[in-house]
Amino acid sequence: MAYTPPIAARIDHMEMVDIVKQFPGVRANDHVCLDVHAGEVHAILGENGAGKSTLMRQLYGMYQPDEGEIRINGEPIAFRKPLDAIRAGIGMIHQHFMLVPTMTVAQNVALGQPSTRGVRLDLDVVSERIVRLSEEYGLAVEPDAAIWQLSVGEQQRVEILKALDLGASLIILDEPTAVLTPQEVSDLFATLKRMVAEGHSLLFISHKLHEVLEVSDRVTVLRDGVTVGTRPTNDTSRDELVKMMVGRDLKRHEHRAVGCGDDGLTISALHVDGDRGEEIVRGVDLTVRCGEILGIAGVSGNGQRELAEALAGMRPITAGTVVIHGNDLTHVGLNERVKAGLSFIPEERMRDGAIGEFTVQENVFLRDHESPEFRRGPFLRFGDMARHASRLVEEYAVKTPTLDTPLKNLSGGNIQKLILARELSRRPTVLIAAQPTRGVDIGATEYIHKTLLEQRDDGTAILLISEDLDEILSLADRVAVIYNGRIVGTVDRAVAEPHSIGLLMAGIYE
Ligand SMILES: Nc1ncnc2c1ncn2[C@@H]1O[C@H](COP(=O)(O)OP(=O)(O)O)[C@@H](O)[C@H]1O
Ligand SMILES: [Mg+2]
Repeated sequence: MAYTPPIAARIDHMEMVDIVKQFPGVRANDHVCLDVHAGEVHAILGENGAGKSTLMRQLYGMYQPDEGEIRINGEPIAFRKPLDAIRAGIGMIHQHFMLVPTMTVAQNVALGQPSTRGVRLDLDVVSERIVRLSEEYGLAVEPDAAIWQLSVGEQQRVEILKALDLGASLIILDEPTAVLTPQEVSDLFATLKRMVAEGHSLLFISHKLHEVLEVSDRVTVLRDGVTVGTRPTNDTSRDELVKMMVGRDLKRHEHRAVGCGDDGLTISALHVDGDRGEEIVRGVDLTVRCGEILGIAGVSGNGQRELAEALAGMRPITAGTVVIHGNDLTHVGLNERVKAGLSFIPEERMRDGAIGEFTVQENVFLRDHESPEFRRGPFLRFGDMARHASRLVEEYAVKTPTLDTPLKNLSGGNIQKLILARELSRRPTVLIAAQPTRGVDIGATEYIHKTLLEQRDDGTAILLISEDLDEILSLADRVAVIYNGRIVGTVDRAVAEPHSIGLLMAGIYE
C-alpha cells in the first residue's frame, strides 16, 4: 500500500483549459489545452521556448494564468502559490533541483513538509518513510547521505521522493532526462511505470522524441505557445511529431564509413587543471583524423569543458602535448592555433564565443579583424566586411533584422549559427565543437548537424564534445567516453550502443 500523507488530495482528472500567459513581449501560452487522467503519462513536447515550463509553473502555482481555467476532478481551482498546488496533490520535479546541498536526504524531504514548519522534525520517521517509498518505487537513495555527495541522478530521486512524501498524485517532470546517463534514464522510466501503476498522473516534459514515444500514453505538442495537437502515442510517429514541433519535415543524416585520413589533431598525455586548481583532465590521449568526427561523450563535469578550453588555448596545459598537423601547439594561444587551422565552437558561447552588446557584424569579425583580406594598410575595408558578414548571414540562414542588431537580441539558435558561420568561414582543418547545439532549437540543431557533417566530408578533423548522447551517436564516426578526467573507452560508431556507452559514462568499466 502506498503511504498517504495527510495533506494532499487525490487527483483523478486534471484539465487546463484555454490557458493564456503573457510576458512582456511574448505570449508564452496562447489558449493552451491539456488534460491528464490518473494512471496516465501525458508527454508535453516542444522546442526550447515553446512554453512548456511556463504552462507547468501555472499548474504548480508559481504563476497565475491571465486567462483560462485549471480544473481538478471537474472543479475549477486557482493556485496562488506552490503550497496551494501541493495541497491539491500536485508535485513538480524542476529542471534545476531545489535541494539544500549541505543537508541530508531525510532533512531535505522533511523540509518540504508544510506541517513540520517551525516544529521539530522527527528525522527517524521521515527516514523510515523514505526507505518505504524508495522500495516501493525503485528509488535507491540513502536517507542519511548529504545531498552534495549524491550524483545528479540520485538528487533527482530525492526530488521525486520529496513529491511522493508530500502525497502528490499528479507529478510534473520538467525535462527530467536532460541530466541523466542512459542507465539512469531507464531507471527513471521504471520508476515512472510504477508510479502510473499506483494510479499517479504524470506530465512528462521533453524535447526528445524517442523518450516521449517510449514513456507516454498521450502526447501534446506545443509550438510558439500554441497547442499544435494531442495524439495517443500509439497512434503517432516520430515524423509526425517532428512536423508538429517544427512545422515542417526534417531530413535525416546519412552515415558513411569511418574516415581514414591523416592525423589532424593529436593529444598526448594531456593534463589540465580546473578552476579551483584541482587536476581535472588527467592524462588524455586522443587522435582525430582528417575527415572524421570523434565524439566525446560524458556526464557533465568530467573534464570535457576544461579539455575543450585547453585545446582552444584558453586554459593552460600542465603536462602533455597538443599537435595539429604535425605542429606542436601545446603552449600557444588561440590566435596561433587559429593560424594553424583550428576553429573552436565554445560551450559558453556568450562568454567565449561572442559579445552580446556588439552587433551581428562586429561579432563576425571578433577574431578576424586583423585578417589582410579586410585591411588596406592600417584601414579596415568596411565595404568588404559588410559584404562578408551579409554573405555569412545569408548562407547560414541566421535570422536577424540587420547586421547592426546587437547579437543579444537574436535567439540562441541564431547566435550559434552565426558563431558556426564565422568559425567555418575560415576553412579550418581541425574543429573543436563543444556542446554545439545546447539550448538551440531543433531546426537550428538540424542545420548545425548537417553543416558539421559537410565539414567532415570536406576533410576537417572534428572533435565533438557533447553531453547529449543522441547527438554523439547520430554524428560521430568514433565515440570516446570521458569519465573523471580520463578517456575510459573508445568505440567505432558502427558497434557503439547506448547501453555500453552509458556504463562507461557512469564510470563502470573493466
Ligand atoms: N519569467 C519570464 N519572464 C519573461 N519571459 C519569460 C519568462 N519565462 C519564460 N519566458 C518566455 O516565455 C517563452 C516560453 O518559455 P518557456 O515556458 O520556458 O519555454 P520551454 O519550457 O518550452 O522551453 C519564451 O519565449 C521565454 O523567453
Ligand atoms: Mg522549459
